[in-house]
Amino acid sequence: MVPLSEELYRKWQPIKASRILLGALVQAKEQDMQESILNRLKDYWHCRRFLNLHYDLQKILEEEQNSYSSYKYGQSYFYQSCKPCHITGLRSTEARIASMGLQSLVKGARVLDIGCNVGFLDLELAPFAQSIAAFDINLYCIKIAQRVADQLNIKNVHFICTTFEDFHEEQLYDVVLSFANHHTYDQNTTQSLEEYFLKISTYLRPGGGMLFESHAPTYETPEQLSRTLKVISKFFDIKKQSVLKKGNKGDKGRTFCVCVKK
Ligand SMILES: C[S@@+](CC[C@H](N)C(=O)[O-])C[C@H]1O[C@@H](n2cnc3c(N)ncnc32)[C@H](O)[C@@H]1O
Repeated sequence: MVPLSEELYRKWQPIKASRILLGALVQAKEQDMQESILNRLKDYWHCRRFLNLHYDLQKILEEEQNSYSSYKYGQSYFYQSCKPCHITGLRSTEARIASMGLQSLVKGARVLDIGCNVGFLDLELAPFAQSIAAFDINLYCIKIAQRVADQLNIKNVHFICTTFEDFHEEQLYDVVLSFANHHTYDQNTTQSLEEYFLKISTYLRPGGGMLFESHAPTYETPEQLSRTLKVISKFFDIKKQSVLKKGNKGDKGRTFCVCVKK
């Protein structure tokens, strides 16, 4: 990660910042990393009113870079987008919410989000849900989520740093979000698929729903997906299944299911 100096966040200087980021772009080898740098560049041009926020977030990303050794889904920037704060992510929060119809699915619900990453999806859903508890193993993602929640003055989302394996709670939820988390590229998910989906069902009230999003087809082949759906069917009735067509390249082609606890 190439940090921008504090000076560039105290006073908006898009030409100077662009030179630095374009230099980093030339050096970047992987496509996701190039996209992240372009996202950063685009956001700097638009974040004039949000310089303090973007500076604080950059500091957290730097801390993450220096202290978190696991795979970083945002490629030194953000995995999810947050339009109100001019943050472009590798994945489009808005497109995901629209294509899954999430606003109506979480309406008035107590929601649990497993592996929430930077929590921008939860912050976008907050006005519709009654409350949201969202956790992730990555402390830096949780720090980012909380900083943005404070910026947007969102009070009904509670972010926690924990693993799903260590997560224990008495409370039951109406809706659990399992988005690209049933196994994870970073190898930090140690539960079997059976253990994972059983645990989700124990956190749901009778008749409660799990909203499931698969991995991208490159990371979850049709055979793997069909095995995942088979395990889901042990604990849930799959009421609706569709392939997502909106959003960025990382959003399209994933399978989305609305499932009800058996
Ligand atoms: C592919 S990302 C999905 C993020 C988010 N659910 C979304 O769809 O935008 C996987 C996330 O799971 C988190 N993660 C991996 N293993 C975990 C575990 N055992 N418990 C909690 N979070 C975990 C990672 O840190 C990462 O943020």
